[in-house]
Amino acid sequence: MADGAHVESGVEVIFTADQIAVRLDELARDVAARKLDQLLVVAVLKGSFVFAADLIRALHRIGLAPEVDFLTLSSYRKSRTSSGRVEILRDLDLDVTGRNVLIVDDVLDSGRTLAFAKDLISARGAASVTTCVLLDKQTRRAVDVKADLHAFLCPEVFVVGYGMDVAHRYRELPFVGRVTGE
Ligand code: IMP
Ligand code: MG
Repeated sequence: MADGAHVESGVEVIFTADQIAVRLDELARDVAARKLDQLLVVAVLKGSFVFAADLIRALHRIGLAPEVDFLTLSSYRKSRTSSGRVEILRDLDLDVTGRNVLIVDDVLDSGRTLAFAKDLISARGAASVTTCVLLDKQTRRAVDVKADLHAFLCPEVFVVGYGMDVAHRYRELPFVGRVTGE
């Protein structure tokens, strides 16, 4: 109820706002422990925008001052499965050469999106690339890629909320849930 689940019929809560908040502070400590000088956070849009916004404020709370940039990728997701091709819809503004980059994404599923982002930023000469995802769906990789950090392991269901959508809906929900279709 505290998460507003009662007003959003058809979405079943998987991770509550409170659970997410706890993990954000833990993740921030994990990032800080890596001692990444002059950290550059790259949020992979659109789905990670809420997670990235909360994560950078968690980083601030423990004394980090990352720069932030955005990379919009498309995986030509028709229906709810990825078709395999990843394209840059909007590129970074900043030069990543020599930078310690933290890539932030919402869901690691087939792995194509994260692998593409990692390869792109490494190829541009980043000093290091660390990956952090909100949700790690572990069982459906098409590409061999791992997230260095994740907030939660996630069952193989299509999730929405906390920035994630289906057909542009549900991004505003403060929790991660699954659409039950009423
Ligand atoms: P991958 O390239 O197959 O790993 O897919 C990753 C991208 O697909 C993520 O960055 C998400 O934007 C999107 N995605 C994968 N699973 C879900 C889901 O359950 N809900 C919403 N978006 C998803
Ligand atoms: Mg995404």
